[in-house]
Amino acid sequence: MPAAGRELGAGREFAYTEQDFERVRGMIYARAGIRLEASKFNMVYSRLSRRLRALSLSSFRAYLDLLDADDAQEWQPFTNALTTNLTSFFREPHHFEVMERYLAEHGRRGAKFRIWSAACSTGEEAYSIAMRVVEHFNSWTPPVQIIASDLDTTCLDTAAAGVYPLARLENLPPAQLKRFFMRGRGANEGKARVRQDVRRLVEFQQLNLLSNAYPVEGVFDIIFCRNVMIYFDKVTQRKVVERLAARLRPDGLYFAGHSESLLHVSDTLKLVGQTVYAHAEQAEHMKRIYR
Ligand SMILES: C[S@@+](CC[C@H](N)C(=O)[O-])C[C@H]1O[C@@H](n2cnc3c(N)ncnc32)[C@H](O)[C@@H]1O
Repeated sequence: MPAAGRELGAGREFAYTEQDFERVRGMIYARAGIRLEASKFNMVYSRLSRRLRALSLSSFRAYLDLLDADDAQEWQPFTNALTTNLTSFFREPHHFEVMERYLAEHGRRGAKFRIWSAACSTGEEAYSIAMRVVEHFNSWTPPVQIIASDLDTTCLDTAAAGVYPLARLENLPPAQLKRFFMRGRGANEGKARVRQDVRRLVEFQQLNLLSNAYPVEGVFDIIFCRNVMIYFDKVTQRKVVERLAARLRPDGLYFAGHSESLLHVSDTLKLVGQTVYAHAEQAEHMKRIYR
């Protein structure tokens, strides 16, 4: 029986049933680890309708059969349509303060600092890191490598372009706007672009946190993995955190989202500050610095 309030068919452009919804839930979980709640029935319809229209299909069943038939081309738009990409510049600002403390604590050293924004959405997180790093070292060529990755290729395109509506920059101080952005003209009126000097500090790439082998090399000083674990169940969270922990330097820092706790998820990483984690062996020492 459909849950109360769920209109099946009535007034809809495409045929859509509870069974279709359950199929979508199973597919996105298997592919991206994303647990869609039962309440997302209507959201799924509206997000995927665009794809059905683009492919001139009349029912969700036909669309899902096409995905099941392993039409590789459609898996990416399907995934892109179902991710939630909410983000902003300098979201959860305390992490950027802690990052600066880490950079100051470790001073200048031979190798570059490596920072990973592991679910970067449309790039605001990675560019916030880059801007803060430029400010910290007062240099356009800071000794830092920033990798930013996401599953969603539409987000990654936006991130690489680095063009944002001015409304998304409202909370940035004027000095930062002036130093790091260029105002758009003509067709780009009402938008601003992150300056090339900042854009070239970030390498964007596609990466599924669920995959067994991450296509990024080496270990990182700091990993930002914020506001993505909330979409995963505990089993997936454990797997992902262990894989990320294996990529974190012994004295590195892991930043989680404001509502994400690794308390029952990881024995490897321990809380050392507000949603800031470090390797368990280093936790007591790190707490004294980053709490
Ligand atoms: C809400 S955004 C968070 C963006 C940013 N980290 C922040 O805190 O503002 C979540 C991002 O996680 C990405 N995501 C979801 N599942 C993923 C997966 N399996 N692998 C990599 N990224 C994933 C989504 O595409 C989305 O861009």
